[in-house]
Amino acid sequence: MIGVSVGRTDRAAGSPLAPAWLSVPEDPAALDPVIWPEAFGRGPDGVLTVSGIPATELAERFGTPAYVYSEDVLRARARAFRDAFGEAFARIGAEVSVYYAGKSFLTTEVVRWIRQEGLNVDTASGGELAVALRGGMEPARIALHGNNKSAAEITRALDAGLGRIVVDSLAEIELVARLARTLGVVAPVMIRVTPGVHASTHEFIATAHEDQKFGLSLAAPEDGGDSPAMQAVAACVVDPALDLRGIHCHIGSQIFDAEGFGTAAERVLAFMASADERFGLELPELDLGGGYGIAYTEADTPRPAREIAESLADRVAAAASALGIAVPHLSIEPGRAISGPAACTLYTVGTLKTVTVEPGAQRRYVSVDGGMSDNARPVLYGADYTAVLANRVSAAAPVLSRVVGKHCESGDVVVRDVYLPEDLAPGDLLAVPATGAYCWALSSNYNWVPRPPVVAVRAAGAQPDARLIVRGETEDDLLARDLGA
Ligand code: LLP
Repeated sequence: MIGVSVGRTDRAAGSPLAPAWLSVPEDPAALDPVIWPEAFGRGPDGVLTVSGIPATELAERFGTPAYVYSEDVLRARARAFRDAFGEAFARIGAEVSVYYAGKSFLTTEVVRWIRQEGLNVDTASGGELAVALRGGMEPARIALHGNNKSAAEITRALDAGLGRIVVDSLAEIELVARLARTLGVVAPVMIRVTPGVHASTHEFIATAHEDQKFGLSLAAPEDGGDSPAMQAVAACVVDPALDLRGIHCHIGSQIFDAEGFGTAAERVLAFMASADERFGLELPELDLGGGYGIAYTEADTPRPAREIAESLADRVAAAASALGIAVPHLSIEPGRAISGPAACTLYTVGTLKTVTVEPGAQRRYVSVDGGMSDNARPVLYGADYTAVLANRVSAAAPVLSRVVGKHCESGDVVVRDVYLPEDLAPGDLLAVPATGAYCWALSSNYNWVPRPPVVAVRAAGAQPDARLIVRGETEDDLLARDLGA
């Protein structure tokens, strides 16, 4: 293995066009261990490897672009959340269930891994639910979310015997109860509330402040009546078709600061205490959702699961004791933090173009054979990524580069700012790390570009192996639904 240490230096002269957080790499072949889990390395010839399998071999076998997952990393991260939270909450006498957020990346194979690692699955649509069931997850270990679930989705969840339906509005409580009565079952529900915490993340992925579509507010209306969340509890407790399991909240996504999770937990616990008092209940469960951030670039500083779990357990224990309630069973729903770092996307370099942006300041555009159809996050959220040369190492000078896709859209950016070697050439391979979450899941066929395959690599035994877990789309796949001439 070479090049696994990271050199960042502010001394080397950077481009005036580079953002302040981006340093000129001392060793451009280095793989920052905060961004690249240890299954990713470089072989003796400098080629990027995934569990020892060279990226060149993967590109030859599966083509590019390709999402390449390390099964071992995804499983290890699932276990890390399970163990860190399990142990931290055991210390305060509580149990934890971890629901992997399937929206981040879900295939039947991933369901199998998650199930084997002892996690449950959180689904956000009938489609995700279908994948979870087809992947063999026990219905009792599946949750169904959504702010606008259809009657068909709810019926399917009730029919299958799902462990929980997270209700999101007063109208939905009525709908779930009505459908449960029709089927002659009791629906296990949790109420999603908005605890009014504004997580410091992109506006589109912050979900617990008041002005948004999810959940029921904890805030009482101005006329002094019950909060929408308390009205929801009241509606659930009077209806024998509903089994109210507890309260759910999710404050947003890609969050580094544990403060927001702690504050949300305190507010929801206080709400649970007042609901308990008012209705003589002891709501057994608190679900704090997901949102744990990961490193996409050197600017990101994620905290280990253990640290988050410990600080949250302390806050929950203190809050429960101050409120005089038992610490409830806790659930969390990490998605990105499990699947995100587990994959990189391999691309082949095509056209290279250098433009002068201002006098003395140039930017090199590196076009690759994918783009916003396989990773919409830069376009949707202004998300930053990084990239490395994957088929070789180069001693050439680092040049400020912008990796762009092949789509007919000037905003089609894959990596906005990265230093890549000056001798980069068409045919070289680039690897973009941390593409395991919300990339395949958000992929599209824009410009009739087929979606890339998903490859899973595992180090099982002495001989690592790489296999397709979702084949890439073909033009025939795309045309199969076109009913014209
Ligand atoms: N639980 C609930 C109720 C959620 O809404 C979400 C994410 C999660 C769990 C998982 O959050 P995670 O641990 O993955 O941050 N497409 C956006 C992210 C949208 C997140 C939606 N909800 C992105 O690419 O950043």
